[in-house]
Amino acid sequence: MTERTKVAQPVSGDAEVLSVRDLDVAYGEVQVVFGVSLHVAKGELVGLVGGNGSGKSTILRVLSGMLRARGGAAQYRDHNLNGVPPYRITELGVAHVPMGRQLFGQMTVEENLLMGAYLPRTRERRPQNLQRVYDFFPRLKEKRASPAAALSGGEQQMVAIGRALMSEPEVLLMDEPSLGLAPLVVKEVMRVIGSLRQLGLTVLLVEQNVRQVLKVTDRAYVLELGSLVREGPSADLLDDPEIRRAYLGV
Ligand SMILES: Nc1ncnc2c1ncn2[C@@H]1O[C@H](COP(=O)(O)OP(=O)(O)OP(=O)(O)O)[C@@H](O)[C@H]1O
Ligand SMILES: [Mg+2]
Repeated sequence: MTERTKVAQPVSGDAEVLSVRDLDVAYGEVQVVFGVSLHVAKGELVGLVGGNGSGKSTILRVLSGMLRARGGAAQYRDHNLNGVPPYRITELGVAHVPMGRQLFGQMTVEENLLMGAYLPRTRERRPQNLQRVYDFFPRLKEKRASPAAALSGGEQQMVAIGRALMSEPEVLLMDEPSLGLAPLVVKEVMRVIGSLRQLGLTVLLVEQNVRQVLKVTDRAYVLELGSLVREGPSADLLDDPEIRRAYLGV
């Protein structure tokens, strides 16, 4: 199959791993996402940025099965995701790192990581996967016996990412990993997210922190009031005068 026929197909081929097309989403009567189309190719790190309430988390919730779209399609490889329950989507290979990290504060780092290893298909490889997380985040190995609540915000974010890695995902959906972190820690977390590609991961990164996202991602989409207003290579968006004025305060 050539690259061209793949692109022409409505069902994603090898290159395109995750996509939404003409997505409409509403909470009750109130529509908050309007005809959004985006895709993420294998191995890409793609940003979805926009201000408060622009619909970023809503789109991620559709992709992770927590919310049903009103119209349009959400797809992972050959699977239509709309209406598929969250556990099944995780099982397919799409893991969600939720906003606010949602760790169990009184449980240890290791116990939190093991919470991500519940899938039957990964259970056997739990020790190897745990080792892989510790290799990737040596600091978590040092703190494996500490309660998660005792970790710094940045370390807690690493635990949340590590927990998602325990399900051996192909795709990571990340919602505001920089939320509530000091600027230096944000940089560190973004560096880590950039290096997730070394593990062969494909990442859709949702963030309000436009500057940091554009620095670390390959491409990005800009959402305003539920509609896409820009998309392109992140380096181009970083140089774009309108983006600079609206989002970077330049
Ligand atoms: N559970 C809900 N019920 C009703 N409306 C909601 C719900 N969750 C979000 N909304 C509304 O949907 C719109 C989009 O919200 P969403 O959380 O997707 O935005 P966001 O881009 O993630 O914003 P933020 O950067 O603040 O996290 C907002 O107007 C919000 O008020
Ligand atoms: Mg959000």
